[in-house]
Amino acid sequence: MSQESSLYPELKRKIESPEGKLGVLLPGMGAVATTFMAGTFLIQKGLAKALGSLTQMQRIRIGKRTDPKFPLIKEFVPLADLDHFVFGGWDIFESDCYETALNAGVLPKESLDSVKKELKSVQPMPAVFDKSYVKKLSGPNVKKGKNKMELAKKLVRDIESFKKENNLKRTVMVWCGSTEVYTQPTKTHQTIESFEKGLKNNSPDISPSMLYAYASILTGTPYANGAPNLSVDIPALEDLAKIKKVPIAGKDFKTGQTLMKTIVAPGLKARMLGLNGWFSTNILGNRDGEVLDDPGSFKSKEVSKASVLDAILQPDLYPELYKNVYHKIRIEYYPPRGDAKEGWDNIDIFGWCGLPMQIKINFLCRDSILAAPVVLDLVLLLDLAQRAKLSGIQEWLSFYFKSPLCRPDLKPEHDLFIQHLKLQNTLRILRGAEVLDHSGLDYYESRESIRRLTGA
Ligand SMILES: NC(=O)c1ccc[n+]([C@@H]2O[C@H](COP(=O)([O-])OP(=O)(O)OC[C@H]3O[C@@H](n4cnc5c(N)ncnc54)[C@H](O)[C@@H]3O)[C@@H](O)[C@H]2O)c1
Repeated sequence: MSQESSLYPELKRKIESPEGKLGVLLPGMGAVATTFMAGTFLIQKGLAKALGSLTQMQRIRIGKRTDPKFPLIKEFVPLADLDHFVFGGWDIFESDCYETALNAGVLPKESLDSVKKELKSVQPMPAVFDKSYVKKLSGPNVKKGKNKMELAKKLVRDIESFKKENNLKRTVMVWCGSTEVYTQPTKTHQTIESFEKGLKNNSPDISPSMLYAYASILTGTPYANGAPNLSVDIPALEDLAKIKKVPIAGKDFKTGQTLMKTIVAPGLKARMLGLNGWFSTNILGNRDGEVLDDPGSFKSKEVSKASVLDAILQPDLYPELYKNVYHKIRIEYYPPRGDAKEGWDNIDIFGWCGLPMQIKINFLCRDSILAAPVVLDLVLLLDLAQRAKLSGIQEWLSFYFKSPLCRPDLKPEHDLFIQHLKLQNTLRILRGAEVLDHSGLDYYESRESIRRLTGA
């Protein structure tokens, strides 16, 4: 693209081309992972479209409104081809990905049958698992090791053999495993040394998802966390990612109710409408719902979902409007619904002269159908980040997360529209194109536009 960025020319990157095959590694091969894989196989065969995916469907405006260009994002930045994906992963259950997808009941059997051979060929490797982190599950396909360091090394060996056997150039890992119990960073998580000491001493503070993140970074594999629990977002692993020059991102895929919240709340705030309360509840009957029925795992999810409103509404800046918001979140495990989650939001707002009003949202969504394109985009954009030599926390991928990671001295951005602008502008910056702020006054007040209007 010819248009040079006037703001950040030094951030323009020479991006390596996405030659060769890309390994897509998924710890946790349940509903989300298998729906993502099945969908990708269907797209490869021309039997489905990548609906919901920005990298596949969205166009990006480049240049002035008087001479705009709208290339597809996948034409604007060099992304890996879906035909070059090779899938691998781990799960505590041995069933192949066809069986799992069938049991998850997300995509219809006829669709799964047309990619049965491909799905059957993906068998989960034995997992690193610790029941104290996911209380509701136990399964037979689990690695043994004398301590957590040995288990981490086994994961490293898995990744290296997967790369060798499939002749892969690059790998990306996205945690699609169950939500682990809520924990907070401890001393063990502060430095690479204390973390590695903890691995050798079998510290109970180190969760399985941290072992996957550690192995991922050590093998130069970008890592994203799709669940709300503490994983790569500890100082030790953030430092390691910087040292090893590996991009990381997280956490908790932004899909159903929180997606809606981050669409509606910025609108209320933009119009200076007040908020008294927001009650969100939903029913969910898949295995994720069962895991979240445990109070420890639910707490991880609740904390991740709760931060969204405060961050968007900024009650410290607007106390008259948002100081006393009562924000309540419930998730009820209700097996008859399977993956077809239903969410209800009751929003109590107030306007001119303080008069109250209500908004009701009833979202009949499909959890994994919303999550699958998020996984696809994260795989492609993290691989892009790696080839563009970006490393550490990738805040520009906040768009995809309920609880976005960012530098500790910054506040995370939750507003979906700002996140979207951030993502698109990052792509523009990487390609050296003009950053768009949509202010538009230059079309009316700049010397050139006045000359155009008046001829003077
Ligand atoms: N679907 C969505 O819309 C959505 C949104 C945000 C976050 N998430 C998160 O994504 C994750 C996956 O969701 P899902 O619906 O596929 O759940 P799922 O229960 O169908 O799949 C999770 C899989 O992870 C496996 N697992 C658990 N611990 C593991 C370990 N240590 N190593 C390897 N495998 C392990 C389980 O056996 C299971 O097969 C969950 O944490 C969920 O909270 C999902």
